[in-house]
Amino acid sequence: MNIKHAIALVTGSGSGIGRATARRLARDGATVAVNDIDEGLALESVRVIEQDGGRAGVMPGDVANDDGMRKIIDDVCASFGRLDILVNNAGIVEAGITPREVFPELEPARWLRVVDVNVRGVLFGTQHAIAAMRNSGGGVIINIASMAGIGVGPHPAPVYAASKAAVVRFTAALAPLGRRLNIRVNCICPDWVDTPMVQRTRAAVSAEEWRAIAPSVMTQPEEIADAVVTMITDDSLAGRVMLCVGPKPWPLMEPTKPPK
Ligand SMILES: NC(=O)c1ccc[n+]([C@@H]2O[C@H](COP(=O)([O-])OP(=O)(O)OC[C@H]3O[C@@H](n4cnc5c(N)ncnc54)[C@H](O)[C@@H]3O)[C@@H](O)[C@H]2O)c1
Repeated sequence: MNIKHAIALVTGSGSGIGRATARRLARDGATVAVNDIDEGLALESVRVIEQDGGRAGVMPGDVANDDGMRKIIDDVCASFGRLDILVNNAGIVEAGITPREVFPELEPARWLRVVDVNVRGVLFGTQHAIAAMRNSGGGVIINIASMAGIGVGPHPAPVYAASKAAVVRFTAALAPLGRRLNIRVNCICPDWVDTPMVQRTRAAVSAEEWRAIAPSVMTQPEEIADAVVTMITDDSLAGRVMLCVGPKPWPLMEPTKPPK
């Protein structure tokens, strides 16, 4: 996949990792559709991309809504002719880290929203993108999961962790689409990244609590954008999961075979 002249949609790209990824793809020559539920943030990202000399358009909407997600992808195809790259980046965390703010104390409406955005949003986006990409001969889908979704240890935000584990498993399960439809679905698991999402957590806790949970050095959003580019441009990668921890190059998980 050549990013130059590609048509890319990045969900939740009004902020943080999504904005850095949209900027990077535009800098590498893609035309980028900037989706965000917050239209003002999306417009600001388009402004930044255009200031860089790139091409972008706003596609506001809620990824957790099936019809809404279908419309976003239809609009990208209508405006730019096709869809080559989808980055399913939009995601939310249930709240802070105090026991009252997470499962099981958190009321269902709040944690259901996490499932809706982080899981249903990725599934809707993937399904509608595959329909569009089939028409143009193939494409690449990158899902932004999290290290929170890896392993079987405890986590302070259980619904967030479960939602990201679902994204990891979903991505790996779709590996055969690479051969069958020429659509490669891959996944990236960032650890702590310095974005507004993390800054909101920082503002909600004491300095002592922050020191206890956060690393002293965080990943920058641009480093995750680099990883997205690697996953897009390496045609050998399908159904693969990158763990954004430790020294670079960041490792890919080895696919497992299910028991017979
Ligand atoms: N920051 C981290 O440390 C970190 C670590 C691992 C994974 N992630 C994941 O990376 C992704 C981006 O996170 P970020 O840190 O850049 O967060 P962020 O809060 O800075 O940006 C997320 C953007 O998504 C948008 N959004 C939220 N719900 C949406 C919806 N339903 N439809 C469309 N847009 C929506 C928000 O308005 C916001 O602009 C998320 O999936 C997050 O879970 C982040």
